[in-house]
Amino acid sequence: MIKEKTQIIRKTGILEFYPQTDSFNDVGGLAELRDWFAKRLPAFNEEGGRAGLPLPKGVLLVGVPGCGKSLTARALSSAWNAPLLRLDIGRVFGSIVGKSESNLRSAIATAEAVSPCILWIDEVEKGFAGAGSRRPGDSGVTARVFGTFLSWMQEKRSPVFVVATANKIEALPPEFLRKGRFDEIFFVGLPGPKERDAIWRIHLAKRHRDPDAYDIESLVKGSGGFSGAEIEQCVNDALFRAFDARHQQQPDRDLSDDDLANALAATTPLAKSRPQDIERLLAWAEHNARRAG
Ligand SMILES: Nc1ncnc2c1ncn2[C@@H]1O[C@H](COP(=O)(O)OP(=O)(O)OP(=O)(O)O)[C@@H](O)[C@H]1O
Ligand SMILES: [Mg+2]
Repeated sequence: MIKEKTQIIRKTGILEFYPQTDSFNDVGGLAELRDWFAKRLPAFNEEGGRAGLPLPKGVLLVGVPGCGKSLTARALSSAWNAPLLRLDIGRVFGSIVGKSESNLRSAIATAEAVSPCILWIDEVEKGFAGAGSRRPGDSGVTARVFGTFLSWMQEKRSPVFVVATANKIEALPPEFLRKGRFDEIFFVGLPGPKERDAIWRIHLAKRHRDPDAYDIESLVKGSGGFSGAEIEQCVNDALFRAFDARHQQQPDRDLSDDDLANALAATTPLAKSRPQDIERLLAWAEHNARRAG
């Protein structure tokens, strides 16, 4: 069955089938978001239809880069046991004039044929930026494709759950954010101490190290303002440091607290280098989105 579905998807080129790799065990924090998903699962299944629950349409995840938006889309696919299709919004706007709208329509038709499924539209702002105001040379194509997408979202009756992600809210047309399009808009922000604790543990365990053998408390303290991706990067960097030391002169040497501390000290998180970006997002999220964790 899955094989057949994969075939349909290959033909279109705009949709990509993603194998289920991550689960929510790989995600640190984002408790609110997970809880929301857990409550919607019955509604996504037939059981919920019989109980009269409205079919979940989708969520928009807005947030700080590297905090787990894409990871969440992949984990949701495992949690709901539904195939994950990634829609490349850039490819919808192909080079052939007049093809963009039909590209989107055929991608939608494919997703519906494959449903129940998760349709993941990453960095949605890149495709729909300026849909409200005409871009020079665009002649309204973006606006038309955008309109097609919005009306599909509004009228959708098939179990195609959309997970759209965005980093830049300024670029999103306001219609996108209006109620009724997405079930909810979540803000995925920088992890707090409890979440960082979980994230350090996840990434150490992924590299086959026992998290309890390390000074997690110091790592959590030292990584204030770090994203999940930056924490993962530190673990990787520390592993290289350890490997290098072992090669040099210490054959028994494994990853140490010092390696991790040194990697941490060598990293400048985005929150430090570009604080204005994050502050702007936070100010927007306060009134426009629900917190993911
Ligand atoms: N909350 C988290 N828990 C565990 N790992 C995380 C978390 N957030 C990020 N990571 C790690 O960082 C990687 C990159 O994160 P991800 O791609 O999900 O970020 P993103 O929010 O989609 O960022 P971008 O806006 O740049 O696309 C993940 O694959 C994962 O390994
Ligand atoms: Mg992403």
